[in-house]
Amino acid sequence: MTSALAIHDGVAVIALDNPPVNGLSHALRCSIVDAVAEVNLNENIVAAVLIGAALPFSGGADITEFGTPKSWEQPDLVAVIEAVEASAKPVVAAIAGVALGGGLELALGCHARVALRNARVGLPEVKLGLLPGAGGTQRLPRLVGVETALDLITSGRLLPAGAAELKGMFAALVEPDEDLLEVASSIARSVARSGELPSISSLPPAQPRPEIFDAARARLSGSGERYPALPEIIAAVEAATVLDFAAGMEVEKAAFKRLIETDVSKALRHGFLAERRASHVREIGADVGVRRLDTAAVIGAGLMGTGIAQCLAAAGIEVTLLETSEQATVRSEKSVDDVLGRAVAKGRLTAKQAEAQKALIRWTTDYGDLRNVDIAIEAVFESLEAKRAVFEELDRNLRPGAILASNTSTLDLNAIAAFTQRPADVVGTHFFSPANVMRLLEVVRGDRTAPDVVKTAMQFGRRIGKVSVLSGVCDGFIGNRMVEEYFRQAMFLVEEGALPFEVDEALEEFGFSMGPFKVADLAGLDIGWSIRKRRAQERPDMPYSPVLDGLCEQGRFGQKTKAGVYLYADGRTAVRDPEVERSIAAFSQSQNIARREISKSEIVDRCVLALVNEGAKILEEGIAQRASDIDVVYLAGYGFPDFRGGPMFHADSVGLDKVVERMTVFERLQTRDPAFWRPAPLLQHLVSTHSNFADWTNRSAMENL
Ligand code: CAA
Repeated sequence: MTSALAIHDGVAVIALDNPPVNGLSHALRCSIVDAVAEVNLNENIVAAVLIGAALPFSGGADITEFGTPKSWEQPDLVAVIEAVEASAKPVVAAIAGVALGGGLELALGCHARVALRNARVGLPEVKLGLLPGAGGTQRLPRLVGVETALDLITSGRLLPAGAAELKGMFAALVEPDEDLLEVASSIARSVARSGELPSISSLPPAQPRPEIFDAARARLSGSGERYPALPEIIAAVEAATVLDFAAGMEVEKAAFKRLIETDVSKALRHGFLAERRASHVREIGADVGVRRLDTAAVIGAGLMGTGIAQCLAAAGIEVTLLETSEQATVRSEKSVDDVLGRAVAKGRLTAKQAEAQKALIRWTTDYGDLRNVDIAIEAVFESLEAKRAVFEELDRNLRPGAILASNTSTLDLNAIAAFTQRPADVVGTHFFSPANVMRLLEVVRGDRTAPDVVKTAMQFGRRIGKVSVLSGVCDGFIGNRMVEEYFRQAMFLVEEGALPFEVDEALEEFGFSMGPFKVADLAGLDIGWSIRKRRAQERPDMPYSPVLDGLCEQGRFGQKTKAGVYLYADGRTAVRDPEVERSIAAFSQSQNIARREISKSEIVDRCVLALVNEGAKILEEGIAQRASDIDVVYLAGYGFPDFRGGPMFHADSVGLDKVVERMTVFERLQTRDPAFWRPAPLLQHLVSTHSNFADWTNRSAMENL
């Protein structure tokens, strides 16, 4: 059963009940139509209220049905809404939680709406590469005007029901301590008494505002190609100003059909579901509990540690920041003040909110102050000796059952856990810089980490607004291990014939917000340089091109020294440096490398398929749980274009046979380390079995059940 019908004083309550978010699946759609029919047949009923049964009103169309025949099967959502609107007895939507996408469209088809003041509504289909496909582009502008409708549908943002922009949408706003159902029922009765059934579709077209559509089209510039939903939304909302309702619906329907088949929409939908799937740890079931996490400590109040502390405070968690000197704590406090000050100046926080966040952070130099914390996150210098000192102190001072987390990005978590007498309580929480901005959190499970610690750390990530992805222990975990191969290729390309700006341009056209050399300049070229020096000792089998070492030897470390691969006269804008380009040509000559013209497609494939080959190894080693988790790491942490769905999804979309073919070509072309291009065994296996990463994920998920 997906919706239940009960009658109270002549009002039928249609309670939507399709966990987790009342997605409008085929079964739920059928049951709404049946319920409305019953309302109209039953003489004891004067009106009906549509409400979520202890769930949000509705998160919209059931995304998991997209791409399956169920999503088109009648009654589709348009037919459901038509049945509601055509009901001879009033149907009132009672909204708690959220009414999103098709959920809001369903509410707009009702004869009146009532909402809890703090409920949130919106049409976020654009984030899935779609437009509202059940009348949203036609009803919303008629109700709230073109400007608000276009803004809401193109941005996909959610608004609280009480927002001024939504004036006219709700017959009543209900305070949290009032009874939503009671208010909705009383409104339903009064609509029934009035004898009139207001319907948005019978309103005349929205007032034309050509200047708003022109401005929206001008703002699109190139993004319409990357996100085809945007121009379609503008056209559909414009149709609501010039066409009658039925003709406007045809425009919307045709656009929805086109968009749902686009690669962009498939990629964005994959990203949405992959992000949610990532939070599920396969072999840790509902029977495993979580530990208490109310208070935290962060060890090391540098840039990273201070960022982590701010992130915790923003989520309402009390945090103690520990440093070795008073001087360092003063610096850290100033940086917190600066960040909060900027947030207030930009209107992202009120002065009161900033003050409340600051009040949750305190600084100390004494481990004794950490005795009662529930979790301590170490964020000190990346050296095993430095970590040993911290973890021994934590082991001595923390209460039993507290979680000991390390923010290490490269070191062996098992070795760190072995510094303590409680390795089961040790877990990796790898934040990305700046920690208060970047969404990704890699949760690293050591060989001896307890299941409840893993589960707690994954949920903790979500609580502080991050996307948690589980990783096993290896050098660089999922993200940095793969990105190392990406940067290696970028440098090989440069010594073989491409110039850094050409590599950056090709990858930016692919969709990365910044090419690898701009990223390297931003992060500091000295970081990559020290990794290369370390690799030369530790892993001589992993050769790097030293093409950029000369820049580092001259002290050109990137933006912070106003010169790196590019010049930065103003400290921010990258400008090509002819001197660097000459030195690159000279370097190739000194290595007897005959420079050649390298196409944009080779640049993109060499860098992106390097991610894919390493990703396949990470999967077969069991470091990542599933291919889609790797995609989430790249989407949330490395600026991989969302409209391509992540590296593994991209590889599946290209076709793994083609991917392997390209790798074989690269093995012949590449001068240094051609062996890297031997396809990972898993990749070969998938090609030989005509399978792909997504299927492999599913199969292994089943094996693990
Ligand atoms: N369909 C199916 N499942 C959905 C869903 C949907 N529309 N929205 C969320 N879910 C699932 C998630 O996959 C997740 O599943 P698991 O428990 O298996 O991981 C679960 O619901 C909970 O989701 P969240 O973790 O995101 O929970 P939350 O409480 O943080 O957020 C939410 C809830 C605000 C509804 C959020 O999930 C969300 O924004 N959902 C998408 C809304 C959306 O885009 N709707 C438009 C759909 S397209 C449409 O409606 C087209 C149309 O016009 C006809």
